[in-house]
Amino acid sequence: MTARLTVLGAGYLGLTHAACMAHLGHDVLGVDTDPGRVSLLNAGRVPIHEPGLSDLLRDGLNSGRLAFTTSYRHGAEHGEVHFICVGTPQLRGRQRADLSQLNRCVTTLAPLLERPCVVVGKSTVPAGTAARLAGELARLAPAGADVELAWNPEFLREGNAVADTLAPDRIVAGVASAHAERILRAVYDRLLAEGARLFVTDLATAELAKSAANAFLATKISFINAMGEVCEAAGGDVTVLSDILGADPRIGPAFLRPGLGFGGGCLPKDIRAFLARAAELGAGEALGFLREVDTVNLRCRTRMIELTCAQGGQDLTDVPVCVLGAAFKSGSDDVRDSPALDVAQILHGMGARVTVYDPVALASARQSCPQLRYAGSVLEAARGADVLLLATEWPEFAELKPVQLDGVVARRNIIDGRNVLDPRVWLDAGWDYRALGVAVG
Ligand code: UGA
Repeated sequence: MTARLTVLGAGYLGLTHAACMAHLGHDVLGVDTDPGRVSLLNAGRVPIHEPGLSDLLRDGLNSGRLAFTTSYRHGAEHGEVHFICVGTPQLRGRQRADLSQLNRCVTTLAPLLERPCVVVGKSTVPAGTAARLAGELARLAPAGADVELAWNPEFLREGNAVADTLAPDRIVAGVASAHAERILRAVYDRLLAEGARLFVTDLATAELAKSAANAFLATKISFINAMGEVCEAAGGDVTVLSDILGADPRIGPAFLRPGLGFGGGCLPKDIRAFLARAAELGAGEALGFLREVDTVNLRCRTRMIELTCAQGGQDLTDVPVCVLGAAFKSGSDDVRDSPALDVAQILHGMGARVTVYDPVALASARQSCPQLRYAGSVLEAARGADVLLLATEWPEFAELKPVQLDGVVARRNIIDGRNVLDPRVWLDAGWDYRALGVAVG
């Protein structure tokens, strides 16, 4: 079946969802309050780095099944199903979610809903938000009880967003009625026919599915990085330990890559919001370990700074340091809560002469951290450096060979913050090679 869908919020999630739904044959109107973004999208230009998204956007626009507007009224008139995809970032200075965009979206949309429809939340939210919003919709929408709320969290990864949306490993439908379930089944009928697993549940479990998934992933990463600290102290090698642990099918190798830890617009803020919400619900003790997960993760950045001081000197004033990577992970130009950029900024604050290079995230890094110096290539960034930091796991960096840097750097010091280089190659070439979680010597 094809349906008329409205997608509210054309950020990472909303834009991908809108373009993918149009690709599946639905008639999609994307709504975003930013007129600049809307014109850019209607002109077929994608403002983020996401493989495959440009083609889908162009195809959607050309087919007439996809368009963008700033008008909530047009959105309300268009959709039989309204997907809410606005951001739920961390509240400034607080360890909890900022739901202002979400609340604004619902209170703007609801009074315009005059026909029966289903409003489907996709944003990551604290448990209980959906039930509250269902009440708001019933109170504010002229169609009253004919407006239903469902929750359908998204598990897409940046850099893999299109594939994750078009071939999801699971679809979670949090519903309060058989009607809402039928509508969601119809929207995703092609994906279900292709084998995607559907979990139909209540609203709270659907909200929790997303928070719990991100909490688990963050915990796995911090677990291996905590093991890295123990390896350093005990004379072990966390990269080998990770391989050994990952070989156990009950543990598995995914998200067990040791290094500078997790960042981005999701994992860090989601574990904090999850913890805050659990505390409000009286279940804070159950999630107390997430505080430790966060602390271990942030300590990875401190340990990277300590290694830099070990190589560059305790006083880093005017020490030339090259940071390879600005994005929070490879395959993305997102620098939100990027461990790489955070480390670069701390070193800059300590007086080092930091030069950053990233293959795709230079523009976003420049915008977010204008005080840093940027270079257009690895060699340009590394020229004259006393210490070289590999901070994002881009293949271009993993493939680096010592000989490429001969006569380029001032001193042969390298810190592999993502454990992607072969230590032997660098040590044999006379470099002082260090890595997080690997004992020196
Ligand atoms: C994450 C989740 O993986 C998605 O399922 C979820 O939908 C998304 O958040 C979201 O909430 O919207 P994403 O933020 O794109 O996706 O990034 P991940 O691929 O999860 O990586 C997160 C961070 O962990 C990166 O900084 C990465 O470098 C780091 N990481 C990942 C490690 O340090 N080690 C690993 O083994 C894996």
